[in-house]
Amino acid sequence: MHKKRVFSGVQPTGNLHLGNYLGAIKNFVDLQSKFECIYCIVDLHAITNRQNPKELRSNILETVASFIASGLDPKKNIIFNQASVAAHSELAWVFNCVARIGWMNRMTQFKEKAGLNKENASVGLLVYPNLMAADILIYKATHVPVGEDQKQHLELTRDIAKKFNNDFNCGEYFPIVEPLIPKEISRVMSLRDGKKKMSKSEDSDQSRINLKDTKDLINQKIKKAKTDNEPIPSEIDGLKNRSEAANLISIYGSLNEIKMSEVLKEFGGKNFSTFKSKLIESIVDKICPIGDEINKLLKDKSHLDNILALGAKRADNIAKENLKEIYKIIGLTKFT
Ligand code: TYM
Repeated sequence: MHKKRVFSGVQPTGNLHLGNYLGAIKNFVDLQSKFECIYCIVDLHAITNRQNPKELRSNILETVASFIASGLDPKKNIIFNQASVAAHSELAWVFNCVARIGWMNRMTQFKEKAGLNKENASVGLLVYPNLMAADILIYKATHVPVGEDQKQHLELTRDIAKKFNNDFNCGEYFPIVEPLIPKEISRVMSLRDGKKKMSKSEDSDQSRINLKDTKDLINQKIKKAKTDNEPIPSEIDGLKNRSEAANLISIYGSLNEIKMSEVLKEFGGKNFSTFKSKLIESIVDKICPIGDEINKLLKDKSHLDNILALGAKRADNIAKENLKEIYKIIGLTKFT
């Protein structure tokens, strides 16, 4: 039996948004009182696409600031950046040799990110899921809180763990991880198109609520958010084929920690303008204090660096020991 341990990661690729918060970070905060948790800023994943070095450095600090501002306690949890712990990359190489090329080719995120010009994508983008599996398994983590878009990568992590355990006949050395995906809001959708997920890479800033958006901006974005001409239904069935409406209802439910059915009980029959003013209030109440705190924390960069340095040490201690065991299983010796 493996000790319960939570691991998750977020890419430092710019503004974190409401999708990152409701799909993942809010869950990180809830889990910190129940489990030993390790939260990583996955800077090595970020460079699978070209990054400006100066911006990358500042985005890493902004991501730590966003974690702390959202309520993560750096004393209770291990918070660090991936590049600080070499064992992630070392185990990723091992997994490059365990995972099959066909498995990589099936990943929908690779297909989406590589687009039509697959031949020109970085090799790193193709083997991205192996590094992700290494992030998790180097700590023998058992539970991984993520949004629904990462589910396929976690299934691959399970496949890699099973194949390694089997190939090297080492019982259940690597745990078979459990994804923790929020039930009612597994995927926050764009405010402009209910069929696309809310994302940092979407061109229009109107499509997302960023954690650092001001009250005025939130007000404007939600007022403009796409809906339809029907009133709000009283039952979940009434949201079928109404992806924009369903998205706003689930955001409201998640922010207020109530089920979608209860939101519909409260607003069923009403029009969207009444609902949107309540939604704006909820977003402003939750997100603006986080944004203010991010800006405050960013004024003291050495404090953020210290958090990362301390977290890196704690993470490295666990990862180094596990890598030694893993190498031994494979028949490799590390003399350093
Ligand atoms: P990333 O940086 O794209 O996103 C960070 C987290 O936010 C969630 N998320 C969303 N959830 C709901 N709705 C949305 N619109 C939305 N957009 C983003 C993501 O599911 C994720 O949980 N590959 C990962 C990072 C990673 C990782 C790991 C995660 C690297 N190693 C190990 C877990 C464990 C990624 O790109 O997340």
